[in-house]
Amino acid sequence: MSLLQVNNLGVQFQTPDGLVSAVNGVSFDLQAGQTLGIVGESGSGKSQSVLAMMGLLAKNGKATGEALYNGQNLLTMSPRQLNAIRGDRVSMIFQDPMTSLNPYLTVERQMTEVLELHKGMTRREAKKRAISLLEAVRIPEAARRVDMYPHEFSGGMRQRVMIAMALLCEPEILIADEPTTALDVTVQAQILSLLKDLQRDFGTAIVMITHDLGVVAGLCEKVMVMYGGRVMEYGSANDIFYQPSHPYTIGLLGALPRLDHDGSELVSIPGNPPNMANMPKGCPFSERCTHVSELCISTLPPLAASAANPAVLRACHKAPQELKPSVEVVAHV
Ligand SMILES: Nc1ncnc2c1ncn2[C@@H]1O[C@H](COP(=O)(O)OP(=O)(O)O)[C@@H](O)[C@H]1O
Ligand code: SF4
Ligand SMILES: [Mg+2]
Repeated sequence: MSLLQVNNLGVQFQTPDGLVSAVNGVSFDLQAGQTLGIVGESGSGKSQSVLAMMGLLAKNGKATGEALYNGQNLLTMSPRQLNAIRGDRVSMIFQDPMTSLNPYLTVERQMTEVLELHKGMTRREAKKRAISLLEAVRIPEAARRVDMYPHEFSGGMRQRVMIAMALLCEPEILIADEPTTALDVTVQAQILSLLKDLQRDFGTAIVMITHDLGVVAGLCEKVMVMYGGRVMEYGSANDIFYQPSHPYTIGLLGALPRLDHDGSELVSIPGNPPNMANMPKGCPFSERCTHVSELCISTLPPLAASAANPAVLRACHKAPQELKPSVEVVAHV
């Protein structure tokens, strides 16, 4: 049984302009210890997909479909059942650590409180465990720093504190929503390498959400590419990076800096993501796709196994071999 199996997840928001469908037909599965990357430009429905699973949608939002955690549907659980899972079996970390840290409490108090409550530890045991977790996320002088307040840490260190907090109860799944977006490149690389080590040492499954394909390279085994609230392509990181078969993925790869930089220009996808309140009738990407045809404009392409590689799911009317890349895509991972 999958640790997490999401079937046909949808998210709709009631707005003054009518019903907005922010997520449609999202399906994926996550095995214990596996790492999944959810990638797409801003507004593609990445965050709402995971917030829906966690029962954290805004009041005007409603989730449909199924999100089976160990076989139990998170979407139909009572708030009490969900609370028992959230923060304990499934943890989330965000771009801004201050969304999960209390500025008025020392790191020690925030961490020990959770352990006392969830694990029935004494304050002394809990403090020991808190320090060892701060050490695990490579915070120097953890025994001293545990008594500091969140604002006394630098941005990168605060992100580490949040990761340590998220790991307190040894969750089975860690959902990371753009955790490195606000950090500079060097600190970003350190946090990614830390997550990779933690995944190896603790066996935590990770769902990494990012607008940057570069972030999932080297960390994720599976990648799901989203656009306009839908899955465009889903497969192993190897297939997605080395044999992208969807025009949107190919476009995202063209916008990535190459490690073997040879001076060629980065090519970002011209145009902007569609307005969720006014989605194209056919393919969500049709307004920006260089391969667009009549069929693309009139009819939504279904997500289906690729003719070229059945292990990859793609939503595109054109066969992979019909897609001559409009930008030169060179695998660089
Ligand atoms: N409370 C809300 N009410 C109406 N629409 C919303 C609300 N929250 C999010 N949305 C819509 O959901 C879309 C997807 O958002 P999100 O999942 O946060 O994108 P991202 O991929 O950047 O994480 C947004 O573009 C927006 O149109
Ligand atoms: S269905 Fe058409 S518009 Fe959409 S990605 Fe494929 S070729 Fe482009
Ligand atoms: Mg987001």
